[in-house]
Amino acid sequence: MVLITIEGIDGSGKSSLVSALGRLLENEHPVITREPGSTWVGESVRRAIAEKADPITEALLFVADHAAHIATVIRPALAAGDLVISDRYSDSRYAYQQVMLEGIIDEPLAWLRAIHDGWTIPPDLTFLIVLPIEEALSRMGSARNLEHFEEAGVLARVQENYLALAAEEPSRFVIIDGMKKENEIAEFVAGSIRDYSGWSRSRRRR
Ligand code: TYD
Repeated sequence: MVLITIEGIDGSGKSSLVSALGRLLENEHPVITREPGSTWVGESVRRAIAEKADPITEALLFVADHAAHIATVIRPALAAGDLVISDRYSDSRYAYQQVMLEGIIDEPLAWLRAIHDGWTIPPDLTFLIVLPIEEALSRMGSARNLEHFEEAGVLARVQENYLALAAEEPSRFVIIDGMKKENEIAEFVAGSIRDYSGWSRSRRRR
């Protein structure tokens, strides 16, 4: 029925928002899912990240994970009329792999879009959490062994890419100030999702 995605750089508070949404939207019985890792393909993705696979291999594994996610979770849930909330989705590829594939592929964003074309299901609404890079890094904790995506320079470019995607599609994206209080963000996003689902239901009845 409605596909909502939550995006943002590592350390943006995305995952706590998604778990709060599960509680706040209990009455709507949402299907809460994620990328990578909602299917068995996710294990290969985790391995590619851990072993620092070459960027094309890594990108294609993220895309394979997306295909399996759509086939086994997203499409059936939407067909059943469910509200689906995904922690990361195709915009993660457009933002992250665009950075990782720079200098390897001519036009990374166009290439990434082309391999999604024709089979991906675009989200109805995407909440993008934006915050200063230093804040994201400090939330992740300096003691942690950072994945290659989590270096400050990479994250800054990923966030710029996200903002460019949002500027291209202002009616799909809702930008959230990640410096606001966690419960304030969660209440706002839950309210917006409720409004959007209600509007979408009434539109279908017409
Ligand atoms: P995620 O599971 O959200 O992070 P965490 O392990 O902190 O919960 O995602 C793992 C990493 O993969 C994260 O740095 C973002 C990156 N990623 C991509 O580069 N491309 C993608 O398409 C996706 C879905 C994630």
